[in-house]
Amino acid sequence: RLLLAGALLLLRLLDLPWATVAVRRSDFPASFLFGTATSSYQIEGAYLEGNKSLSNWDVFTHIPGRIEDGSTGDTADDHYHRYEDDIELMHSLGTNAYRFSISWARILPKGRFGQVNPEGIAFYNKLIDSLLLRGIEPFVTLAHYDIPQELVDRYGAWLSAEVRRDFGYLADVCFAVFGDRVKHWATFNEPNVAVTKGYMLGTYPPGRCSPPYGSCAQGNSDAEPYVATHNVVLSHATAVEIYKRKYQRRQKGMIGIVMAGFWFVPLTDTPVDRMATERALAFSVPWFLDPIIYGDYPPEMRQLLGSKLPTFSPEERRKLGYKLDFIGINHYTTLYVKDCMFTSDCPSGQDIQYALAAYTGERNGVHIGPPTAMPLFFDVPDGIEKMVTYIMKRYNNLPMFLTENGYAQGGDGYNHVEDWLDDQGRIQYLDGYLTKLAKVIRDGADVRGYFIWSLIDNFEWTYGYTLRFGLHYVDYQTQERKPKSSALWYKRFLQSLHEAQ
Ligand code: NOJ
Repeated sequence: RLLLAGALLLLRLLDLPWATVAVRRSDFPASFLFGTATSSYQIEGAYLEGNKSLSNWDVFTHIPGRIEDGSTGDTADDHYHRYEDDIELMHSLGTNAYRFSISWARILPKGRFGQVNPEGIAFYNKLIDSLLLRGIEPFVTLAHYDIPQELVDRYGAWLSAEVRRDFGYLADVCFAVFGDRVKHWATFNEPNVAVTKGYMLGTYPPGRCSPPYGSCAQGNSDAEPYVATHNVVLSHATAVEIYKRKYQRRQKGMIGIVMAGFWFVPLTDTPVDRMATERALAFSVPWFLDPIIYGDYPPEMRQLLGSKLPTFSPEERRKLGYKLDFIGINHYTTLYVKDCMFTSDCPSGQDIQYALAAYTGERNGVHIGPPTAMPLFFDVPDGIEKMVTYIMKRYNNLPMFLTENGYAQGGDGYNHVEDWLDDQGRIQYLDGYLTKLAKVIRDGADVRGYFIWSLIDNFEWTYGYTLRFGLHYVDYQTQERKPKSSALWYKRFLQSLHEAQ
């Protein structure tokens, strides 16, 4: 046994392609958080209950044509009523953490212009207490895309500096009420995606596009996405300042932000594609993290965008001085990048946030990795190692969490429930990514936790219910949950901590 284990370890250390040994829990530190992730709008439902107001997503999904299958999150997984059952699912997986988000419109239906809603507070109190009773650490996101519509109507949400005060108020309320039990706070989920889709492509609320993106008849100013980002960055800074000044010493938690981190590789091994890849990277994660950590937007962006990028006043810089405690990374896929600065034949609609670069999933007709059901999401396990290494180097090995990683099922070939339950593609994907994550941790990356998206199938934004990311299948007629093969796989993986090597 010992010899065999030694030989396998050696193969893995050498990183040989045939060393396809299943990953084990014991490859990770004992204190590591292993969990699942969800978000309020995607699972809660009960959109008119508990004194909640409408969110931007409630309004958006009710506009015909916005969501692929015409669906909404009105009921979603009915988690609002079934959270106890869902915590049972987590318990049976053996996870020790759960990442979820707070519905802003449940806590503060009218933002800072109205009262705190006791029913909203009660719901999250019950959720948090039940998690802790089960030994599951709550990892809470303050804003995962949904925001009270009231704030959109009053002042245009992220386009106005007013939103910083509102977000600070939400954060303050949440720290005060839940902070005795919540020790991991993320201010935002994937603001780089929210801003790109909400203000460039126009596919997420508020559905605004800027030229030359999207299909809006009339383009808005192409500076809008950068104004929105500026307000997100300073809203984040406001919340961090409040946490550090008023709560952290007593509550002893951590606060960070969650970014969508695609990994990019040059389409061809040419200087122009390599430079385009560097630009593509800078325009995605550093777009937010550079100002948050270093006080200004990435030089790569400033060079191209000039005065389109706002500047920080001395007072704003002071605010940014309160350091965040961790970086959350949602990583799913790797894509090829092609230069559009020196070459003119760039595919339209696939350019990266004005980076003069375009992405694609294939080279000479061959995919970068096995495709998943989500367009442009491929199974490329190396990417997780590369992404973590990039962030580790750029930000001095700040503590990191893999706050999302997962695999979409959908499309043709699903005729029976059993077809969804037998999710071998997902197992292969997760096993591959976790193996690479273990490797990068062995190589020195300070990664402290990993969350699978998602605990249960749920509302996948503009794809509605056509894509299924869950470890558990959800029958949306009966709301019954059924474990897929991957749930059993995760459970066995988590148990392997206690098995002999
Ligand atoms: C990113 C988002 O945070 C989450 O809401 C979404 O469902 C998953 N990734 C899958 O696309």
